[in-house]
Amino acid sequence: MVSQTYKIVIGVSVGIAIGILIGCGALIVIRLYKKRQFRSREPSSPTLPIRANGINTSIDSSASISVSDANPSKQIMAKRNGQWNVHQNKDLFASLSGIPRYSYKDIQKATQNFTTVLGQGSFGPVYKATMPAGELVAVKVLASDSNQGEKEFQTEVLLLSRLHHRNLVNLVGYCIDKSQRMLIYEFMTNGNLASLLYSDGPRFLSWEQRLHIAYDVSHGIEYLHEGAIPPVIHRDLKSANILLDKSMRAKVADFGLSKEETFDGRKSGLKGTYGYMDPDYMSTNKFTKKSDIYSFGVILFELITAINPQQGLMDYINLAVIGEDGKGDWEEIVDKKLVGRSNAEEVRLLADLAYKCLHKIPRKRPSITDLTQAIARIRQHHFTKNDTLPPSVSDAPGVLRRIENQQVELSNMTSLRSNLSLKV
Ligand SMILES: Nc1ncnc2c1ncn2[C@@H]1O[C@H](COP(=O)(O)OP(=O)(O)OP(=O)(O)O)[C@@H](O)[C@H]1O
Ligand SMILES: [Mg+2]
Repeated sequence: MVSQTYKIVIGVSVGIAIGILIGCGALIVIRLYKKRQFRSREPSSPTLPIRANGINTSIDSSASISVSDANPSKQIMAKRNGQWNVHQNKDLFASLSGIPRYSYKDIQKATQNFTTVLGQGSFGPVYKATMPAGELVAVKVLASDSNQGEKEFQTEVLLLSRLHHRNLVNLVGYCIDKSQRMLIYEFMTNGNLASLLYSDGPRFLSWEQRLHIAYDVSHGIEYLHEGAIPPVIHRDLKSANILLDKSMRAKVADFGLSKEETFDGRKSGLKGTYGYMDPDYMSTNKFTKKSDIYSFGVILFELITAINPQQGLMDYINLAVIGEDGKGDWEEIVDKKLVGRSNAEEVRLLADLAYKCLHKIPRKRPSITDLTQAIARIRQHHFTKNDTLPPSVSDAPGVLRRIENQQVELSNMTSLRSNLSLKV
């Protein structure tokens, strides 16, 4: 009896064990089956959204890039005007950048056969163009003998396509057609800051506009340094690369190409523009965010003095510096056009800030976030002050006389220097 019960217990246990085993097996089979089914529904590689970006784009924002596992760069499908086209890998670049690509013919038509020249840079000429939907743009034509190689050009388009901020000049298209390379930017009606500061025309930048430009530029740089991932160092900040739109809002330009475009030929490898280059970078060849801060400091002094960095701005600044602590008699170097039209306290605050940017030890220069906040406070001061008090103009003739004396001294210094360099 006992042995029969014993047999039953063993039988039931074995039965349960077999049942569990079969159950587990079935579960595993089901899971494997489901996984396979799920995999077969998955695309062969990640699907990236294409951003419809810029003017006249024909790329559908809902389209996606599908790249085959077997040959990732070979096939690409982009939905254009409702049709699926298969392109070669150069269009992989087009779709990844999300920026519309134009043919040479499109650009030739938009620029009316390259008639209106906006300016000439180190890369080549820049033309005004009107796109089919009526948008105004600026087309930068890269000279065919430009050092900018194919790879660098593509890298720049990819880089620029991910940077978007109201204080950066937007890249809205590009052209690769045989050996032609062109970059298409939003049109900036009021041109570049250098021309506004240095041309003798009737146009004059008010102190309030200059404060606003300083504020806009600091925001643009703050986005590059602190907002972009990974951060971007401009490497060629200068007043010629600050452009102004129709409402005089300032935007930073050339933040992609700049690192390749200008360079001091005497020291190969150094990139930047004479007068704006951080002396620490020139001696160590190491470019950091603080090198951009140095260039921004130079731009702030340009806004205050309207003296060109390539025509002795640093000497002019040093004329105004009193003592070791970097305090300066900034009123003596302010742009003559601002005398009686600016607030001395605000000029002093902005110049003190600019001078900190020029500190010879990079880590002692302020960060761009500190600068943005400080400039915001100066603007705040400007608005509250102007609500109550008009700027003082009582000693305007005396101030003007002192500024003129400083400028005579500067021209003596620069002519002395050019005589010396002629002798060397
Ligand atoms: N988006 C734009 N809208 C209007 N004008 C522009 C635009 N981009 C450039 N320009 C004008 O074209 C001219 C040449 O610009 P470009 O950037 O090629 O040269 P640069 O800034 O003077 O020198 P670099 O080559 O060293 O940058 C400038 O005078 C600028 O004012
Ligand atoms: Mg430029």
